[in-house]
Amino acid sequence: MAGKIVTLEITDLAFDGKSVAHLDGKVVFLKGGLPGEKVEAEITVTKPRYNTGIVTKLLTKSEHRIKAKCSHFGICGGCTWQDLKYEIQLMYKQKQVYDCLARIGNLSETEIDEIIPSEEIFNYRNKMEYSFHTSGDNSFTLGLHQRGHFDKIFDLKKCHLQAEPSSKIVNWMRDYVAKEEIPVYDVLEHTGYMRFLMIRTAAGTEELMINMVTNYGDFPDPEKFIEQILPDFPEITTIVHNQNGKKSNIATGEIEKILHGPGFITEKLLGRSFRISSNSFFQTNPKQTETLYRTAFEMLGPDSNDRVLDLYCGTGSIGILLADRVKEVVGVEIVPDAIVAARKNAEINGIENIQFYEANVKDYLNAGSQEIENFNILIIDPPRAGINPRALKKMLKLKPEKILYISCNPATFSRDAANIVESGYTLPRVKPVDMFPHTMHIELVSVFYREK
Ligand SMILES: C[S@@+](CC[C@H](N)C(=O)[O-])C[C@H]1O[C@@H](n2cnc3c(N)ncnc32)[C@H](O)[C@@H]1O
Repeated sequence: MAGKIVTLEITDLAFDGKSVAHLDGKVVFLKGGLPGEKVEAEITVTKPRYNTGIVTKLLTKSEHRIKAKCSHFGICGGCTWQDLKYEIQLMYKQKQVYDCLARIGNLSETEIDEIIPSEEIFNYRNKMEYSFHTSGDNSFTLGLHQRGHFDKIFDLKKCHLQAEPSSKIVNWMRDYVAKEEIPVYDVLEHTGYMRFLMIRTAAGTEELMINMVTNYGDFPDPEKFIEQILPDFPEITTIVHNQNGKKSNIATGEIEKILHGPGFITEKLLGRSFRISSNSFFQTNPKQTETLYRTAFEMLGPDSNDRVLDLYCGTGSIGILLADRVKEVVGVEIVPDAIVAARKNAEINGIENIQFYEANVKDYLNAGSQEIENFNILIIDPPRAGINPRALKKMLKLKPEKILYISCNPATFSRDAANIVESGYTLPRVKPVDMFPHTMHIELVSVFYREK
């Protein structure tokens, strides 16, 4: 069957951005194509329960198909839906939330509010991680991953997700590394030096950080580098160098050196200031983050007597924004840099009724301190994998009155939500918020109420 060319009608979009069709009673996940389109496709993999394939020819076009703005669209692993009208992207995201809640969570009675669109659909990101790649010869690329390939990077000329000068810095950097003959990291052989270029911006203050992530060793001639890059990009307010000599291909470092400026940028959210360092999590669509947090607080309805436990707190933004409306907040986060930033953020915003602990949520809950018995509100904002089941059990033992759960993955949210509801909570509604136009990512806000 693999290699066979077939004619298919696309009926849906799947969670990972692929399109969905059916062939001989089996589902086919396709790269390319939009619902309503008739396509010619090559079957690439056959499995007992499904096939995968790739669209080779469009036989009819969907009325919702538009011309993608980006010249890298189709190759780039970043945007999967740039060729689909934005309002239709939103419709499919809404449907995916519905499908996950019904299918995984068995929660078809929970109301799903209409998804909140992103105010900006281009240039909305404040952080991009560009990868260096070489196959061992003298040539290299600097850009983003090719769709579906962890080990293939294409040379990026312009990305429309982060405003300029982001792409211009990428192109400058590629020339600099080539001119200076700085070796590039080979991800398969684990040799070479340059690994990532991260660019972070702060819309509220117009500050800009570049962070070079390399294999072990000092950055060659940093003074010369700074002298050359700053006149070309006066927008850069800080430059940091992180060394990551581990095999895991992530853009965070074990050793950080500040080469220029303060080593952080400051963003403003809902009137407060937040320090963002190179290695800590910060929401990537700042305008929409304000909408997300505002929505979350409206749904939660905080009270001045509330004691709030903010789990997976990152740089502390949710707790800090909530602190003056409640009695006290405790934030827990695993990344040491994020906790340093969270404490600093509380200080620069003059917040005194908040404390932060650097810990794995599971360990913090296991430690069984008396303090944790007193929280009546739980805020949970975990990574995409959702909540560790043992940690969730511990959270539920605290019997909080309300749980505000913010999720970036409707599938793991639905799994966790089913467990929360089973242990005596109601989930009247969830509110999807679109933080990432043109990608399949969906953010959700929800509040669980303990049944009396
Ligand atoms: C989706 S982010 C949320 C951050 C924050 N609430 C915000 O809105 O900016 C998830 C955070 O959980 C942290 N994290 C992941 N696993 C963790 C764990 N087991 N224990 C504590 N924190 C964890 C990550 O470092 C990250 O900062």
